[in-house]
Amino acid sequence: MKGVVLAGGLGTRLSPLTRVTNKHLLPVYNKPMIYYPIQTLVNAGIREILLVTGGNSAGDFLKLLGNGKEFGLRHLNYTYQEGEGGIADALRLAEYFADGEPVCVVLGDNLIERNILQAARAFREQKRGAKILLKEVKDPQRFGVPVLEGKHVVNIEEKPHNPRSPYAVTGIYFYDSAVFEIIKTLKPSGRGELEITDVNNAYIRAGQLTWDVLEGWWTDAGTIESLFSANQLVAETGANKME
Ligand code: G1P
Repeated sequence: MKGVVLAGGLGTRLSPLTRVTNKHLLPVYNKPMIYYPIQTLVNAGIREILLVTGGNSAGDFLKLLGNGKEFGLRHLNYTYQEGEGGIADALRLAEYFADGEPVCVVLGDNLIERNILQAARAFREQKRGAKILLKEVKDPQRFGVPVLEGKHVVNIEEKPHNPRSPYAVTGIYFYDSAVFEIIKTLKPSGRGELEITDVNNAYIRAGQLTWDVLEGWWTDAGTIESLFSANQLVAETGANKME
């Protein structure tokens, strides 16, 4: 399984912090934000990683991360997303890199306290389809929210006004190689982007989406409030723990 970190976008919700730099280069406690999702993949035993960047300061990722030696990697792969096409549009750029293998995709502003080893193991056994990770949150309306019937996720609603469950779909996804064909069928949403939620709903319709609940804390860091709380969580308990 290969890994993809999506770190493009303009980070407008963090303006003016992101006026001259990329959101994923901002500090979260003692490290740049981008370190955390890379560590999440490395801790899951993934060694081949592609970073999709875009927007401001894209060249700085190379200066910061080089070939990923700090993470015990031999090399890192980079690609550039032009424009603001959304998460699924950014993932489309990973098709050549994935080369038919399954991928674990992590959004560059998603941080976790622990690790995704168990989910990665389960997905390797699943062989096909997709797997998402859910987390109970206080403000589900900010996220993709699953509609559950018994143990089945029957639909995911993107930023619903009236969330149908207390869960957020976290920005950590496992996909088989069919994901790239699904992306080609998507139409831009109301905000003009190709939505990762539409990708996940396509897997639901095909009866091929499994889910787990993530253990330990999870946060995004894409708004002033969540960036602040990410700093606090990392300072208080640390992130990417292996136990
Ligand atoms: C994105 C996804 C959303 C998901 C969230 C996790 O939202 O669209 O479904 O719950 O990431 O961080 P965005 O950060 O683009 O608003």
